[in-house]
Amino acid sequence: MLLHPPQVADGLAAAEILRAEDPDGFAALAETTVEWHYIPEDGRIGNGRASGPVIKLDPASGAVVQLRWSNKDRGWLSRAETVQVPHFYRGYRRFASLLNEAPVQRSVRLEPGAFLLLDNWRVTHGRRSYVGKRSLKGASILRRTWAGAQRMQEAAEATGELKQYDAPEPDIRTSLRRLDEGTSKEYAAQGPLWAALVTPSALTAQVLSLLRSMDGEHTRFGFRVNGYEHSLQTATRALRDGADEEMVVVALLHDVGEALFAANHGEIIAAMLRPFITERSYFVLKHHDLFQGYHYAHHFGLNRTARDALSDSPHYTACVYFTDAWDSLAFDPDYQSERLAVFEPMVARVLGREQYALTPDNPKNAVAWKETDLGVTDAHAHVPATCES
Ligand SMILES: [Fe+2]
Ligand SMILES: [Fe+2]
Repeated sequence: MLLHPPQVADGLAAAEILRAEDPDGFAALAETTVEWHYIPEDGRIGNGRASGPVIKLDPASGAVVQLRWSNKDRGWLSRAETVQVPHFYRGYRRFASLLNEAPVQRSVRLEPGAFLLLDNWRVTHGRRSYVGKRSLKGASILRRTWAGAQRMQEAAEATGELKQYDAPEPDIRTSLRRLDEGTSKEYAAQGPLWAALVTPSALTAQVLSLLRSMDGEHTRFGFRVNGYEHSLQTATRALRDGADEEMVVVALLHDVGEALFAANHGEIIAAMLRPFITERSYFVLKHHDLFQGYHYAHHFGLNRTARDALSDSPHYTACVYFTDAWDSLAFDPDYQSERLAVFEPMVARVLGREQYALTPDNPKNAVAWKETDLGVTDAHAHVPATCES
C-alpha cells in the first residue's frame, strides 16, 4: 500500500490560472529565457543543458504548448529584461504553489506492476515520502519520436495500411447467449485469450504481484517483520532445511491469501495452487493457519491443540513440521532471507506443471477430463432449473 502515492499536476491548467491571476507574471515566465542544467548527483555521464522559458507559447495562438519545470535544474536567467525580473520570480513562486494545490493536482495510486505514462510537456510529477519498500523505474521517450509514430499511424489508417503492431484485435465476439449455443469455431477463437492467462509466466507474475503487495506496514500487525519479509523468511528456512522445490514454493506463498481476503487465508492459497501441487502441499496450505495456532492460540483463550483433530491425516506430520520448523520461526528481523528472485524460477516451474497432473483422481485432471468428455451425453441438458432437495 502506498501511503503517499505519486502526485501529478496538470501544468497547463496551472499556467492558465496564472495567466488569469497575474498576466505580467505569466508573461515573464513565457518571455524570460532560463538556462537549465542537469547535473547528476552521482557524477554519472549524462549531464545536460537546455535554454528556454518556463512556459512556451504558440507564437500564433498564444496557447501554452510546453512547460519546463525542474526547480533543482534551474540555472540563471539569460536575455531577461531587467524590468521583468521581479515579475518572473513572483510568477515563478505562484506557479510553484499552484502546482501543489488541489485544483490541478491528482494522486495516482500505483499497484505493483502498474505503468504510468505522462506527457512531460504538460504534467508535472513527484512522489511523497513513504514508509516501507518501493521500487519505481523511470524511462523517457522523446516527444518527437512519439509524435512521429502517431503521424505514421494516422497516415497508415488513412490509407488502410495499418502496421501489424497497430492492427486491431481480431473480432471474435460471438452471437451466443448461452454457452451451449457456441460453435467450435467460436470457442477455438476464444481459446488463446484464456490460454494467455494461464501460462506459467502469467500465473507466476500474478501470484508474485500479490506477494509483493504485502510488502509494507499494512501487513506488519506489530510484528518486527511484515508479511512479505515473513514469507521470504519462511521460504528461505524451508530451502535451507532441504525441503523440495514444491514445498519451498508453498512456504513462499503460504500467506498470499491474506492479500486477497482477510479471512481464511490458508484455504484461499490452497485452492489457488491446488492444480499444480500434491495433496500433501494442499493440506499444508489449507490447514497451516490452524496448525500455527499451536504457538499462540492459547493467548486468545483458544485450544492450541485444535490441530490434533486432523491427526488421522497422512499429511498431519508435514503440516506440523511446516508450522513448527519454518512458519512460526519466520518473524526474526535479523534473519538473512534469500531475495525473491531466487524463488521466482521455482514458482514458475511449479505453476508450469500440467494442471492436476499430480492428482489423477481429481475430475479436473486433464487426462481424466478428456476421458470423461468422451462419454458426455446431453444428460446435463435435462437438469431442471430449480433443484428440489
Ligand atoms: Fe498464515
Ligand atoms: Fe505464515
